Amino acid sequence: MCGIFGYIGKKDPVKTAIDGLKRLEYRGYDSAGIAGVKDGKILFCKEVGKVAQLEKEVEKQQFSLDIAIAHTRWATHGEPTVPNAHPHVDMMGSLAVVHNGIIENYSEIKEALSAEGVRFSSETDTEVVAHLIAKNYKGDIIAAVQESVKRLKGAYALAIVHRDFPDRIIAVAHESPMVIGVGGQEAFVSSDPNAFAAFTKKVVFLSKSEIAVVEREKLAVYNVELQKISKEETELEISATDISKGHFEHYTLKEIFEQPVTVANAMSGRFSTDLGTALLNGIEDHLPNLGSTSRILILACGTSWHAGYVASYFFEEMAQIPVEVEISSEFRYKNPIVAPNTLVVAISQSGETADTIAAVRELKAKGARLLSICNVQGSTLARESDHTLFLNAGPEVGVCSTKAFTSQIVVLFLLSLFLARRRHMSRDEGKRVLAALTSLPDAIKSILNKSGEIERLAKKYAKFENFFFLGRQYMYPTALEGALKLKEISYINANGYPAGEMKHGPIALISPDCPTVALLGNKKTFDKMLSNLMEVRARKGEVIAITEEGFVKEISKITQDFIEVPQTIDELSPVLSTVVTQLFAYFVAKERGCDIDKPRNLAKSVTVE
Ligand code: F6R
Repeated sequence: MCGIFGYIGKKDPVKTAIDGLKRLEYRGYDSAGIAGVKDGKILFCKEVGKVAQLEKEVEKQQFSLDIAIAHTRWATHGEPTVPNAHPHVDMMGSLAVVHNGIIENYSEIKEALSAEGVRFSSETDTEVVAHLIAKNYKGDIIAAVQESVKRLKGAYALAIVHRDFPDRIIAVAHESPMVIGVGGQEAFVSSDPNAFAAFTKKVVFLSKSEIAVVEREKLAVYNVELQKISKEETELEISATDISKGHFEHYTLKEIFEQPVTVANAMSGRFSTDLGTALLNGIEDHLPNLGSTSRILILACGTSWHAGYVASYFFEEMAQIPVEVEISSEFRYKNPIVAPNTLVVAISQSGETADTIAAVRELKAKGARLLSICNVQGSTLARESDHTLFLNAGPEVGVCSTKAFTSQIVVLFLLSLFLARRRHMSRDEGKRVLAALTSLPDAIKSILNKSGEIERLAKKYAKFENFFFLGRQYMYPTALEGALKLKEISYINANGYPAGEMKHGPIALISPDCPTVALLGNKKTFDKMLSNLMEVRARKGEVIAITEEGFVKEISKITQDFIEVPQTIDELSPVLSTVVTQLFAYFVAKERGCDIDKPRNLAKSVTVE
């Protein structure tokens, strides 16, 4: 995780770097720092907490630099303290380094350097890089960086400034993202091009330990053998997006309320009502033989994995294609067999999740075809895929994923429809499911109109420390997602469980102190869910039900605490029920006074394994 930003140019480097960091804060926010060269000296300023803290401090100190590198941290080695915050400097204060990734052999290097008399002032893996470069420096900074990088194992993106070179930033990347923005009389270095997209869209991506010497109007890139290489400049199709909260108190709430629009955007231009099918224009140019796919392998983490889990049901049900859904971090350590005609579908909002990227690289090396479902244009995953279906949801700033989940389901549903119509699904059936899909935005609006009701329930239940979220079939991954939202933003222990499994052990936990959020929006399993909820009630467990309209009579026998959602087909019911669980988690977290947009210990983009 962690975000790196660097700037050389006519603008104020400190202000530009702080603004850049704000756009990278989703990558970690437990401390932040800035360093650079001023009048031939390395100066730095570091603060524990969010970028806003650092901003206050630099303003207070009237901190000024000629060039700047900056960092927002998600702690891996060492607690969030000022000494552990980046940038890290060498003992002589001759250079400063910021780092994203993990140096796996740092303790071995640290031991060797300590034996030579180097004194360390932090617990981080990054500090070894600063001392190593200083040790290897004999007047040629590029050679010193190259020599040092050769000793590093792990994943790293680094930005370095040296007092002897007040006009350049050295950037290096190996399995962690690093992009250089060029054009005009300025240059940017960043973990994510969106951080400087307002200024330039001309970029050069670094990889495989490439070393870039970044100057105002000049960029030179070397491989790890220090041979100069020519790198292609890419013109990104991203726009500088507005990331304001509007009139909402939190980004998370704004993003929940955006869903009628984001869900509509996810389907826009991607279907034909007349033909009763999905139109995924151009997909077969990049993925020939898509129609003959005989197996789908879905890879993702967290919320994206839940979306993939939902999709696995409809790929099998609608397209009748066998599906495996794997958590990327687990899948990596299997020895995957890639059968012919397997389509690998990687799902990632950010497109930067290290485990998902590592898993798909392994599969691509084995010859698999890779389709990704992504929100962020220009992300590593999108660049490495044979084809990407973008969510078009706009930036998701709140750390917990909300609008991306519902858009992922829509895009996966369209893919499933596309494959189903190529096989056996009739045009009429295609039209029927499309009618359900296109009515989602209005259905979501009607749920958002009930936010007051959901808030009242959330206030009633916010005091509990343990919850179950139960569902069956489509509502099982929906329950997992509901539980994840509650635990990550309100710090309540919430377990998503398949309702039928309760009696095999977990029912022992049911008591008046452990309420159950029951997801009943799946018609096929509605009756079975009711029986499971009777079992919960028999053990004095409270039930909060999320059910489709038209079932009040049955639900009232179990609980008076229920929220109704509009009727839809089972395949799309996760979208509607999830809007309720998102709002429930939001209002519980608000009631408990939690930091909703930036929950403790988390980062939006998980770029370490
Ligand atoms: C939960 C959440 C995470 C992400 C996960 C994968 O609200 O945001 O679980 O879903 O880290 O991230 P992406 O989708 O960017 O690969």
